[in-house]
Amino acid sequence: MCGIFAYTGTKGKDASKVLLDGLLALEYRGYDSAGIYTPESGAVKTPGAVRELRKKIPADFKGKSGIAHLRWATHGEPTEVNAHPHSGGGDIWLVHNGIIENFQELKDMLMEKGHEFKSGTDTEVLAHLVEEKMNEVRPSFAKASEGKKSSVDQGLDGLFERAVLAALQEVHGTYGLAVQYKKEPSKLIAARMGSPIVLGIGDGEHFIASDPSPIVPHSKKVVFLEDGEMAVITPEMHTIYKLDSTQVGREITEIDWSAEEAQKGGYEHFMLKEIMEEPDAVRNSLRGRLLEDGSVRLKGLESVEDKLKNVKRIIIVACGTAFYAGQVAEYMFEEYAGIPVSVEIASEFRYKKPVIESGTLVIAISQSGETLDTLEAMREGKRRGALTIGIVNTVGSTIARETDAGIYNHVGPEISVASTKAFVSQLAVLALLAMHMGRQRGMKDETFASIAKELKLIPEKMEKILASTGAVKALAKKYAYARDFLYIGRTYNFPVAYEGAIKLKELSYIHAEGCGAGEMKHGPIAMIDRQFPTFAIALKDSVYEKMCSNIQEIRARKGPVIALGTDGDSLLAKIADDALYVPKTLDMLSPLLSVVPLQLFAYYFAAAKGYNVDRPRNLAKSVTVE
Ligand code: F6R
Repeated sequence: MCGIFAYTGTKGKDASKVLLDGLLALEYRGYDSAGIYTPESGAVKTPGAVRELRKKIPADFKGKSGIAHLRWATHGEPTEVNAHPHSGGGDIWLVHNGIIENFQELKDMLMEKGHEFKSGTDTEVLAHLVEEKMNEVRPSFAKASEGKKSSVDQGLDGLFERAVLAALQEVHGTYGLAVQYKKEPSKLIAARMGSPIVLGIGDGEHFIASDPSPIVPHSKKVVFLEDGEMAVITPEMHTIYKLDSTQVGREITEIDWSAEEAQKGGYEHFMLKEIMEEPDAVRNSLRGRLLEDGSVRLKGLESVEDKLKNVKRIIIVACGTAFYAGQVAEYMFEEYAGIPVSVEIASEFRYKKPVIESGTLVIAISQSGETLDTLEAMREGKRRGALTIGIVNTVGSTIARETDAGIYNHVGPEISVASTKAFVSQLAVLALLAMHMGRQRGMKDETFASIAKELKLIPEKMEKILASTGAVKALAKKYAYARDFLYIGRTYNFPVAYEGAIKLKELSYIHAEGCGAGEMKHGPIAMIDRQFPTFAIALKDSVYEKMCSNIQEIRARKGPVIALGTDGDSLLAKIADDALYVPKTLDMLSPLLSVVPLQLFAYYFAAAKGYNVDRPRNLAKSVTVE
């Protein structure tokens, strides 16, 4: 996600230097553009990295306070004009992380009042909304007193504070933000709803940031804002309020992490942090898309809505983990939308002579949006006349730009090379698309309602799994001897078996393979012996009995078995050597839960061996070559 950093101090520090150093510490979060504002020198913004921004800042740029931002695009391409900070057209400047859902409605209202917009961002709308509220509130202030008082003493009665509060009360969506008012330069306002914000408490200086990493070099004292809170800071003090104006007391937390640990949020590796972020990743992917009237809103597909209705066949192209997400989707689309689907490894599809009839939809799934094979496979489909859509996490990436339409995952940058939170988000988005296309083809109200209900419960159920990781960690230790591992599953969890195997092999460099459980007897079972364990996904679903039989077959050949079952299942512990459990959900959504213990198992297995989990050997995060 985007990175925010803001500073106000009386220690004579050059704010631009403090801010640029802070942005560098946030760079690990990913970015596509950067910007800085000080009341003395104004704003400088650029697409690209912090070093580009540094080059653009003039030598006479000065300031004692300011706001800065690293953008990871959600609304609008990564261009200079879309980079933050954004101005409200007057003296208000703002940096923002998150998504303002009612931005179009607010933008229309503000345009009627004469506001002019330069960018395509939801953030600029927020800046204008604060400016508009300043205009509304201003008449009740004596002109002479404006800007002169240190209005932290005024509580929320200051013009600036009242305007920000009034604006936030009209906003729906998520935000972490820092706002500055040119006429009260030493004061900054922060607010949080869904996107993290932390205040840094120094001696004669205060900070606002998305995470503690840029604060730690200056101060180890921080205060974490909670959702629905707003904070006013000056060099000397900070005050926190709820959005209903009541003041909040909050203890200061003493950080004992290094700057690098701070980036990982206190986790040992980005991979573990990203697994822990999965409930929020799914929430972000679903936000605003499941409507109460029993429909799915996918704004990025509106332009191809009619074509989607006429789709007769779907081809999914992707690589690696994204390919396995596509394979789960094959089951979803066929069961719930009645559309035939084939899932193709992108590097094969691009060199085939594929038959593409009219009414073919090609879906390209890619976290990075830059995987060359997926891009070329999608282009091949397009050349042959297919409608193309992308399911992509990185806004403005090549696949996102070149497909006819698309759906963004909105899960923030994935830093660890092994894909985790992007995978569960891909599954959630594909479920939404299957529901949408199912609805177009007569899916019943009750069916839609039951999937929607279960989909909304997935984040909570994931949290339950993530609250007790001890059992998975213990199993990773118990099976650390293994040089081979088999993963088996059926139907919706057949691709999850492959995903479990790819995670283990890429992180721990041992041989692991996925297999459809029914296929085992046609070859792979020959490998099984005492030293060759199997991970069997045996949830209480339509193929439960078959999976139990497959487990018995492996046990009969002395193969150790870890079974992954559904909460409350008392049989698995008896027929397998070890068992882990996940909460019950619909078969179609079960991969969103079953994959979590498999990801954790691979993580703990490799971390215990001391491997570089976030950067496994020979691999790259974005594969832009063949
Ligand atoms: C495995 C993994 C890879 C990627 C694959 C596609 O953990 O991360 O298999 O899934 O390289 O990458 P994207 O989704 O960026 O196209």
